[in-house]
Amino acid sequence: MKKLLVASLVLIGGLTISSTVPAAITGSAHDFSATNWADGQICLPCHAPHNNQNATGDLLWNHDPTVATYTLYDSPTFDILTPGQPAALSKFCLSCHDGTIALDAYSSHSTSTDVRISGFANLGTNLGNDHPISFLYDSALVTADTLTGGGVTGLVTPTDSTKVGVAGLPLFDGMLECATCHDVHNKHDTLKGTGLLNTPNDGSKLCLTCHIK
Ligand code: HEC
Ligand code: HEC
Ligand code: HEC
Ligand code: HEC
Repeated sequence: MKKLLVASLVLIGGLTISSTVPAAITGSAHDFSATNWADGQICLPCHAPHNNQNATGDLLWNHDPTVATYTLYDSPTFDILTPGQPAALSKFCLSCHDGTIALDAYSSHSTSTDVRISGFANLGTNLGNDHPISFLYDSALVTADTLTGGGVTGLVTPTDSTKVGVAGLPLFDGMLECATCHDVHNKHDTLKGTGLLNTPNDGSKLCLTCHIK
């Protein structure tokens, strides 16, 4: 069935579409297979089918965990009164993106070259200048935001707080995490080059999915 579909796409599209559709992560910013530290693989620095880092088996996580303590986002109008440290899912990202752990520090890889993430992709351990993460985004938060907004609602109410939270953007157990905005596997291949986002941000479309401004 899939082969038929691909074949007909090729016919419709003429000669421009190849008959093998590449996985979206291939060639994306998260395809490390061409580096000298990924053992020629794509998934391995992040997931391994066996004997991976994560003892609980959560996502078969294979990258060394970060143990950093983060400076958290706060502001007078932020409605999360006691923000917590990043949850496990965002810590997966931070295990490379806070710059404290080598990119090639993953289970089964022994010869570390200690190459670290650099430039803007290095968020550091001060998350005070980054969009807040790891908090419950539910209707109670929307109500609280209405109060600090002087009676005007500033947030879209999530339709499903456990899976697809807001217009296709996922929440994880109701929480807003890095992967709410970011598409780590670049599944939305058409957005290639736009920062691995789940929704394009031209005209600030991503922001306006949740914020009523
Ligand atoms: C740069 C790190 C990274 C790479 C490389 C990566 N993943 Fe992931 N993967 C994650 C993170 C983080 C999550 C959890 C966040 C999410 O689901 O968006 C995840 C979630 C998943 C999940 C569970 C959620 C879902 O989307 O179904 C599967 C399955 C998965 N990855 C498979 C793969 C496979 C197969 C590859 C290689 C082709 C791969 N991943 C490459 C980081 C990565
Ligand atoms: C194994 C290490 C690793 C993990 C885990 C990881 N990343 Fe990355 N990520 C990288 C590297 C390396 C780059 C390329 C940085 C550069 O170009 O300087 C990158 C690039 C990115 C970019 C920029 C993409 C672009 O097109 O410029 C985003 C956004 C990003 N990562 C988000 C995430 C998020 C969100 C997660 C977790 C869901 C995550 N990453 C997990 C290593 C990782
Ligand atoms: C509320 C949405 C949102 C959240 C949450 C979020 N990001 Fe981003 N991030 C963005 C947007 C938008 C960009 C800009 C993308 C572009 O245009 O290239 C971006 C850019 C990035 C970049 C590329 C920076 C650069 O200039 O090269 C990285 C890396 C990144 N994010 C990682 C993360 C990580 C790690 C987390 C969690 C700690 C996270 N993001 C949480 C929206 C978000
Ligand atoms: C998935 C939904 C979602 C997306 C997408 C999103 N935000 Fe947010 N953002 C929130 C929530 C929820 C809060 C917490 C609101 C609060 O407590 O006041 C927040 C907080 C903020 C705050 C701090 C508010 C305060 O009172 O301190 C700013 C500023 C902000 N977001 C801007 C942005 C921008 C700019 C973008 C696009 C790059 C964006 N957001 C994308 C949901 C989102």
